[in-house]
Amino acid sequence: MFQLVNVEFAEWTKLIPESEIRRLLRYKVKYYFAGGKPGVLPLGAFPLIMMEIAKAELEAIFSGHEKRVIDDYNYGPTEGLPEVRKVMARIMRERDGLDLDPEEGWKDVLITTGSQQAIHLIMDVLTNPGDLVVVPQPVYLGFVNVVSKFLSNVITVPSDLNGVIPEYVEEAITAAEKQLGKKPKMVYVVPDSDNPSGTTMPEDRRRKLLDIVKDKDIYLVEDAAYREIQFRGEKLKPIRHLDKEGTHVIYLRSTSKEVAVLRVGYSLMPPEVREQVIKAKGYNDLCTPTITQKIAALYYERYFEEYIKKVREGYRKRYEAMAKAIDENFPEGIRTDPTGGFFIWWISENKEFDAKKFLEEVAIPNEVLYVPGEAFYPIKGYSYDPESGKLVNATRKKNEMRLSYSYSTVEEIEEGISFLGRLLRQHS
Ligand SMILES: Cc1ncc(COP(=O)(O)O)c(C=O)c1O
Repeated sequence: MFQLVNVEFAEWTKLIPESEIRRLLRYKVKYYFAGGKPGVLPLGAFPLIMMEIAKAELEAIFSGHEKRVIDDYNYGPTEGLPEVRKVMARIMRERDGLDLDPEEGWKDVLITTGSQQAIHLIMDVLTNPGDLVVVPQPVYLGFVNVVSKFLSNVITVPSDLNGVIPEYVEEAITAAEKQLGKKPKMVYVVPDSDNPSGTTMPEDRRRKLLDIVKDKDIYLVEDAAYREIQFRGEKLKPIRHLDKEGTHVIYLRSTSKEVAVLRVGYSLMPPEVREQVIKAKGYNDLCTPTITQKIAALYYERYFEEYIKKVREGYRKRYEAMAKAIDENFPEGIRTDPTGGFFIWWISENKEFDAKKFLEEVAIPNEVLYVPGEAFYPIKGYSYDPESGKLVNATRKKNEMRLSYSYSTVEEIEEGISFLGRLLRQHS
């Protein structure tokens, strides 16, 4: 037996278990509906981009401009390469209708190593232990666990088929002020095709939410990870579009779902937040890899418009296959009906149904993987209870599951979801 070093680990390591999704990623199963891994990728574009980069580099090397190539494999500015920030500024101007100055607006864009890093850095610079953050219930696991990591607390607020309910957000903030003597520092939402619930917030809710954060003078983190994966219905303007001056909304976009997992996130933040975030990023990763930033920029410049339609279409087919298979095969329950994104949220009518237990005891042994809904509830913190108008200890529901249609083919979805439906009927 080795002797363990007698050093105590940081407080948060005891609080937070390994991410349920990372744990589930290890299983190799026949029917995979767990993590939100992209499965519709613009495969034709990448070899061309890489050949173009390779050709330019060879030319530079053989024409005595090695220095230019050396920079491709070097440290770059912490906030991202200017030419890449310019491309991303154009994307947000043209596709989100954001009022970014055509000449200078790119300077507001920050490149991060995935939008996950932006989440981490925002929490790092804005929260102290014991601070409060308001989130929908259920909520993206990769956000709440970072909140807990910084020893802050979340307040979960009920949501419905249109996302989080703004009135309850307002009441939850007031309740926090009264009960805990503290104003939350921010509200976090995924307005376009939420992870995990698949819901999209209608425009009136977006406006209300912005009014609330402005009135309370706190930040709103708008996580737009699925912004481009909107395959039916109207594509709504981001909340950041309504926040004309960009004073309250921290707007996070990502290449991961709309291109590929290049680990390139792009964001806009109020200047005072951005300044601190860049400082923190400098200590976190020094810079985002230069070569992947260049791949991303070339992709958006040359291929994005053409491929995004195909990508969306691919996900629409997968969504349709999953929705139909659930409706035809699952026992009584309700599901969300996403207009985009990667996920359907299913709630069993049987309140006693334990999705986690079922996963371990039935689904995994039968080679089916999904994520039990309870993974999307915080480990600790508060929930706003509209009936009493009070904050109570965070609660978790067990009879829910998140089903991802992003990674599996239509055939695998049809077969796997029908099979899961049969298992659910037999065993619950
Ligand atoms: C809602 C949401 N935000 C952020 C992320 C992280 O994205 P990225 O790959 O850009 O770090 C994800 C990834 O699944 C997500 O679903």
